[in-house]
Amino acid sequence: MGLVVRSLGKSYGAAEVLRGVDLDLRPGTVHALLGANGAGKSTLIKCLGGVVRPDRGAITLGGRALLDLTPSSALDAGIVTIHQHQSLIQTLSVADNIFLGSELPRLRGGGRRRQNRLTRDLLARIGAQIDPRTIVATLPIGTRQLVEIAKALHRSKVEVLILDEPTAALSERETETLFREIAGLRDAGVMTLYTTHRLAEVFRIADDVTVIRDGSVILQSATKRLTPDDLVASVSRGAAPVPQAAPAVAAAVTAAVTTAVTAPRAAVVARIDALSGPRFGPVSLALHAGEIVGLFGAVGSGRSSLMETLGGRFAATAGQVLIDGVQAKPRSPRHAMRRGVFLIPADRTQQALCATLTASDNLLLSSLYKIAHAGVRRFRREAAIFRDIAQRLDLQPANPDLAVERLSGGNQQKLVIGRVVAQSRDVRMLLVDEPTQGVDVGARAKIYDTLSSLAQATGCAILLASSEAEEIVRTCRRALVLRQGHIVGEFEGAQVCEHNLLRSAHQFVGAT
Ligand SMILES: Nc1ncnc2c1ncn2[C@@H]1O[C@H](COP(=O)(O)OP(=O)(O)OP(=O)(O)O)[C@@H](O)[C@H]1O
Ligand SMILES: [Mg+2]
Repeated sequence: MGLVVRSLGKSYGAAEVLRGVDLDLRPGTVHALLGANGAGKSTLIKCLGGVVRPDRGAITLGGRALLDLTPSSALDAGIVTIHQHQSLIQTLSVADNIFLGSELPRLRGGGRRRQNRLTRDLLARIGAQIDPRTIVATLPIGTRQLVEIAKALHRSKVEVLILDEPTAALSERETETLFREIAGLRDAGVMTLYTTHRLAEVFRIADDVTVIRDGSVILQSATKRLTPDDLVASVSRGAAPVPQAAPAVAAAVTAAVTTAVTAPRAAVVARIDALSGPRFGPVSLALHAGEIVGLFGAVGSGRSSLMETLGGRFAATAGQVLIDGVQAKPRSPRHAMRRGVFLIPADRTQQALCATLTASDNLLLSSLYKIAHAGVRRFRREAAIFRDIAQRLDLQPANPDLAVERLSGGNQQKLVIGRVVAQSRDVRMLLVDEPTQGVDVGARAKIYDTLSSLAQATGCAILLASSEAEEIVRTCRRALVLRQGHIVGEFEGAQVCEHNLLRSAHQFVGAT
């Protein structure tokens, strides 16, 4: 007898978000919950965690009905939830976050030492080496996620572990560790409910799969009876085909493999000269008009640090940046933007959106004054821009007046990208870190299309950083590989393949 959900329903106003969902978790199994952005996964999870009250339906655990769940009664019942958006308190230390609400007595003396030691043990258990005294805000987002998981595991008994997109921000190594931990819990009889947009993970870790679409279950099956195509088809609305390599890449396959590709190049838009900053450098590279260049590197390679320095978030310690031949070494994000350099960071929902403003205002936030005429907002024009971008990125729902906090996680991601597209006239170099993190398989293609038409239409250059080699292979004709803060590989045309990228990033010795 596991966790059984029957006919769960939830509406927000006129929007029916869950339409009678059934779910069966068996003890000692991992269950993947899949669906497109906005399908209702997080809402279902919030109902199970007592954060959202369903309008109807029943939840039972081990045969016992769970009525009127609240966050604390869900925890008491053994349901531990890690929500999609993090709940750690940024200004407290790691240890204080983990023990929040359950502080050990006499914290001032031995208590604090003990708390730190317990925290270190707890973190070690999930393979994370973090100083318990570190302030959460200073940790990279993936590490914060691990702290959150450690915190959850520390809470008393766990019967049901619910993870809402835990791997979106994790590195490969951190993901491995998390999977090992989940497997351990499974062997101990715990049930895990798990959402992800990375379908390969499903086949690795999940025993059962439930797919929801627009709030209804459309597939429920043992994983071993499914193929990847089954999943893609059921997850994506209208089953958008996964695009193959761009024609440019396909053509290059037939070209000579080893000789340098000598196709005429467009003008250089951005030149980066011996740039150094926190954890990287010196790095030199040139980006050409209309080009999307991949930047591949494992976590810790300096990838995000390089991107954020270029975007003006960190100060460069040495080197130069030229945009269209003009000095543009970034001093702040504002300064960078004035020179046409825009950053879409990996941790975008935390940094980039105003949760309580509407979708439209978030989208047009930085271009409102340009759309306005003599200081007066032009609402019709704003609405037209919103409609256009919502359609290009498949924003669901395409409602300009909805507060951003009411959009699903993946749709918030699309909105941040849309914001840069909305001010595309000003963009010369676009830096985009993990563009499809949290975005479902169907909508990914839309984001790639949007980026590539942006580059084509405006002649800007795009530097696309990703930890997924596949993503770079799919979108870029040229790719750079960063390892330990240095560019260690450059590939072009047919040489941009997963094998080359991975080999170069990890320096596999002896591989060809
Ligand atoms: N408080 C709210 N008010 C109104 N609508 C909401 C609210 N919360 C969620 N929704 C809507 O409910 C639908 C389902 O959202 P949910 O967050 O459950 O999607 P999801 O499957 O988790 O998507 P994602 O993969 O993007 O995280 C979305 O259309 C969303 O806009
Ligand atoms: Mg979600």
